[in-house]
Amino acid sequence: MSPTQPQTPVERADTAVVLDLRDAARAHRITLHDAPALQPQERLSAIATWQGRMVNEHVSARIFRSLREQAVDAGLSQDWRDRLARFEADELRHGGQCAAAVEALGGSARALLPALPEVPAHDDTDALEALLRNVLSVSCLSETVAVALITSERWESGPAALAETLRQILRDEIGHARFGWRLLDELAPKLGPARRARLSAWLRLAFGHLERHELSQLPSVAAPSDAAEQVGVCDGRVSRQLFYDTIHDVVVPGLERRGLAAGAAWQGRVAA
Ligand SMILES: [Fe+2]
Ligand SMILES: [Fe+2]
Repeated sequence: MSPTQPQTPVERADTAVVLDLRDAARAHRITLHDAPALQPQERLSAIATWQGRMVNEHVSARIFRSLREQAVDAGLSQDWRDRLARFEADELRHGGQCAAAVEALGGSARALLPALPEVPAHDDTDALEALLRNVLSVSCLSETVAVALITSERWESGPAALAETLRQILRDEIGHARFGWRLLDELAPKLGPARRARLSAWLRLAFGHLERHELSQLPSVAAPSDAAEQVGVCDGRVSRQLFYDTIHDVVVPGLERRGLAAGAAWQGRVAA
């Protein structure tokens, strides 16, 4: 199957690359009839938060597109590859939904795209192990953490339209996380000890990268007001604790049950 292709909503402004999702925002338009009264700074914080999500979702689509190509090289069945194609379309839709939230809050669904490194090809190993490294990183680590964080954000959400947006995104992110855990369920029993040891060693880098990325996204300063929290501004300290709890209580035990030395990898994590 072929997912919805992006309409290349990026443009170059001098050297910076701008992501422009205003058309997508109109397609997913929402209205915040029941938003709390916001101070100007609270509104700006909420707009910046949803703009950041909009960028992250757009980047995620590109990652699943690369994973689908890797899945072909690794010989995964059509069913697994179809799921990755759906995930790419999901992430593009999420980008549009977050863009709609930006515009509903009074902002513009345009944002600078950060420099994007290529999704690692892992040329030092074979196609299956290369794919597994990236699936571990994307599904079992990042998407699993995203499920916990979005669940928490959904509970704090005030306006019905924002809560519904997060509900729909969460439903898809659960599928993106499960993909990795299910693929590992299928493949882990067939992985020999040498491959398991190499994947476990590689997890040290994946955990280091994840921690650095997540902490960069989660503010470490004071709690936002109730009104700001209702429109998406997260309490960074709470979110950081939730991140570590998810790693300790969900990700590490899940990987250990599937034969990977994830506890030692987390303890020995290194920033890439
Ligand atoms: Fe997403
Ligand atoms: Fe996702």
